[in-house]
Amino acid sequence: MTVAPPTDGVLVDRYGRVARDLRVSLTDKCNLRCTYCMPAEGLPWLAGPELLDDDEIVRLIRVAVHQLGVTEVRFTGGEPLIRPGLVGIVSAVAALQPRPRISLTTNGIGLDRLAPTLRTAGLDRVNVSLDTLDAERFTRLTRRPRLADVLAGLAGAAAAGLTPVKINSVLMRGVNDDEAPALLRFALAHGYELRFIEQMPLDAQHGWDRTTMVTADEILAALRAGFDLRPDPVERGAAPAETWLVGGGPARVGVIASVTRPFCGDCDRTRLTADGQVRACLFATEESDLRGALRAGADDAELARRWRTAMWGKRAGHGIDDPTFLQPVRPMSAIGG
Ligand code: GTP
Ligand code: 5AD
Ligand code: SF4
Repeated sequence: MTVAPPTDGVLVDRYGRVARDLRVSLTDKCNLRCTYCMPAEGLPWLAGPELLDDDEIVRLIRVAVHQLGVTEVRFTGGEPLIRPGLVGIVSAVAALQPRPRISLTTNGIGLDRLAPTLRTAGLDRVNVSLDTLDAERFTRLTRRPRLADVLAGLAGAAAAGLTPVKINSVLMRGVNDDEAPALLRFALAHGYELRFIEQMPLDAQHGWDRTTMVTADEILAALRAGFDLRPDPVERGAAPAETWLVGGGPARVGVIASVTRPFCGDCDRTRLTADGQVRACLFATEESDLRGALRAGADDAELARRWRTAMWGKRAGHGIDDPTFLQPVRPMSAIGG
């Protein structure tokens, strides 16, 4: 058994997991204020000089792809579509050899307009967050009256070929937990792949409560009342979503049950925040500063070495069920999910 981080090669941790999927947060800002994520007044945003600039982001992604074996790059936020340099960043990443697969997780606002440009730049696919189909509920939940923009964004993404278009829905008790079948009918009708996400303790307000969280079992029971669900024969691999074929397929529905059915043992993810910190896990309480090293003149080999060391220390699991569990200081909106 190796006891020290590797000095070359891929991002492996002491449990043998290899991180090939890089999630890059491009901004901590957002044009929505989902109640399970942010307070109404927003948060103290990262200051301009703290943010990596576009060239710094591309450089770190290049290090990840060329030196660390990363094959998938996912852009997140906050809301990544509000980052001014997004299209240029996507183009630069699409020009890397070997070319990684490139995806984006967004709230969908503005996507109808941006989807063709992003597709041309090299974006492969998108995931769009949508928790309700009721306009009034949407406004209460996100504190902004933007349901029509999100629906237009979904349609624009599909029309531009950013497929499969996946939808992420977080169900909250007494808010939208009656909507699982309606959301699935909507997704099936439009050819979108729906996934329900168990709410996680990552909100800035620390309002998460295990006892009121809508569980995977409850979501599946609600769906089974109206749909025939069968296990998906496709190998799950490291995917957070466990999927089922709906009505015999090919349509599928997924559940991301981070809390009641954790999948940390198969995790293949590494994260980079908008201010240049590597996070080994969504729930990590430590970060590793690549921005400082980069701005102090570190070469690519040194950045890669630091990244390997950060991932080597990845914990076995998120430990939500552990009595000593501590929510990370950085909120979801500044990690990117
Ligand atoms: P694809 O299915 O490949 O598109 O990826 P994905 O489901 O990982 O991506 P997305 O950005 O849509 O994330 C969906 C949900 O999964 C979000 O709530 C993420 O926070 C969550 N998620 C992604 N990676 C992890 C992880 O490593 N651990 C946990 N617990 N949740 C994750
Ligand atoms: N728990 C689970 N999912 C969350 N998301 C945001 N905050 C939480 C949370 N506390 C979801 C968003 C988006 C994805 C990146 O994560 O709805 O779809
Ligand atoms: Fe909603 Fe995502 Fe924005 Fe949070 S970061 S307010 S979950 S769209």
